[in-house]
Amino acid sequence: MSKKVATKKEKPRAHVDVKAKYCSMMKKSKRLHTKALDVLPGGVESNFRLMEPFPFYAAYADGSKLYDVDGHEYIDYLLSQGAIMLGHRRKEIMQAVQAQVQKGANFAVPTELCLEVAKRITSYVPSVKRVRFTNSGTEATMHAIRTARGFAGKDKIAKAEGGYHGVHDSVLWGLWGPPEEMGHERRPKTASFSRGVPKSIADTVCVFPFNDIEATYDILHKERENLAAVITEPILANVGVLMPRDHYLNELRKITKELGILLIFDEVVTGFRVSRGGAQELFHVKPDLTTFGKALGGGFQLAAFGGRKDIMDELVEEKEEWPHVTFHGGTYNAHPVSMAASAATLKVLEDDRVYSNLDRLANNLFPAMQEQLDDLHITAEVASCGSMAQIFFGAKDVRTARQADGTDWDKLGKWCMHCLVHGVMFGHPHGEKMFISDAHTCEDIERSLEVAEDGFRAVM
Ligand SMILES: Cc1ncc(COP(=O)(O)O)c(C=O)c1O
Repeated sequence: MSKKVATKKEKPRAHVDVKAKYCSMMKKSKRLHTKALDVLPGGVESNFRLMEPFPFYAAYADGSKLYDVDGHEYIDYLLSQGAIMLGHRRKEIMQAVQAQVQKGANFAVPTELCLEVAKRITSYVPSVKRVRFTNSGTEATMHAIRTARGFAGKDKIAKAEGGYHGVHDSVLWGLWGPPEEMGHERRPKTASFSRGVPKSIADTVCVFPFNDIEATYDILHKERENLAAVITEPILANVGVLMPRDHYLNELRKITKELGILLIFDEVVTGFRVSRGGAQELFHVKPDLTTFGKALGGGFQLAAFGGRKDIMDELVEEKEEWPHVTFHGGTYNAHPVSMAASAATLKVLEDDRVYSNLDRLANNLFPAMQEQLDDLHITAEVASCGSMAQIFFGAKDVRTARQADGTDWDKLGKWCMHCLVHGVMFGHPHGEKMFISDAHTCEDIERSLEVAEDGFRAVM
C-alpha cells in the first residue's frame, strides 16, 4: 500500500468553516437532537456523547463503516469506543446472536455459553483462574475492587492519576481537573471528578502518578497498612495511549508484592485487543485480578472480572464472621445474547491472523500519520499500541498523565471534526482514541491518510 505523505502537497489548504459544514450535513441529526433535548439531559445518553455543536445520530454500521441518519458514510475508528474489534455486523457474531435470540432473551440461570466463554478467558489470560461476568466495565471494576477489599479486609485502594475505571464512586477520583485541585504532580491529591460522590470516599482512595516509579513507591509504602489494592490500566488509555515506560508495570508488580497489596489490571480497553492475552501478556506481568469489557462482548453488553482462585473464592467461601462473603450478583449477568456474541468473538480471536491483520493495518496507518505530522513540522506524537492510537498535539514523548493532559486537546478536537466532515471518524472529537478493526481495508487506510493529512494542514 502506498503511503500518501504530506510532502506531496505544497500549499496548506484554505481553512474551511468545519462547524458550518457539519451543521449543513447533519440536518436530520439536528432535528433529532432538538427533540432529544426535551427528554434527555443534554440530549444524550452518556456525558461522553455530548458534542459541539450537537451529536450526529447513527443509522447503521457495516464492516469498517458507520452511516448517519442523513445518509453520510464514515470510516469508523471510534468503533464503539473500542468495543468493536472484528468490524460491525461481523458474520460469526451476528449468526450466534440471532441463533441465541431465537432461544429466549435471559433466564437468570446458567447457560453452557457461560462455561465456554469462561474457559476461553482463562485459557487466553493465564493469570485468570476464576472469572465472573458483569454488564459493563464499571461493574467489573467495582466488583474487582470490592472482591480485593473483602479478601484483604482493608478499605483503601490506590489508583493511577488519569486512569479511568468507569463511573462508580470509588474510582471517580484523580482523573483530571484544575491544577490546584490535582495537587503536586508527584504527590497527586485525591481530587474529585464528580459532584454527588460522597466526599468521605476520598479517605478510601489515594492517587499515584503512572510511570513515576519512585513517587509511586513512596505513596504505596506510606499507605501500605491501609491498602487493599492498586488498580491501574496497564496502558493508560483514558488520557491517550500512555505506554508503561522503564519496566513500570514489572516494578509495580514487585512493589505491590513486597508491600502485600493486591494488583488489579483494568484491561477493559486493552484486554484481547493489544494481544490475545491483553497487556499483561505483552509486558509479561501477572496481576492478581483483571477486569475485561469492550472487545470481550463483540459489541454487546458484557464485562468480566477474574484472577487468582483464592481471591475470587472470596465471593463464595463463607467466613465465620458476618458478613460471610463478598457479594456479587446481577439479573443480567452473563446475559445469553451477549455470551453468544462473546463466544463467537473469542473463537475468531483464536486465529493469529486477526492479530497480524490488525498489526499490518496499524503499521500502515499510525507511522504514516506521524510522518505526515513531521513533514508538516507540526509538533505531535502519534502514540500507539497495536490497533489503538492517540495523537498528542503540541508534544512529543508524552510519559505521564499530567503531560498528556497538557497537550493540545483543542487542536485534536478540531482535527477530528475536520476529518469527520470529510468522512473519517478518527475517534471522538472530544478526545476518544482511534481503534482499528479486522474489517478495515488497505483502501480505508489510504483514504484515511489523505483525509488525515488534509486535516493536519487545516489545523496547523
Ligand atoms: C479502562 C476502562 N475501564 C472501565 C471502563 C468502564 O467501562 P463501561 O463504559 O463499560 O462501564 C472504561 C470505559 O471506557 C475504560 O476505558
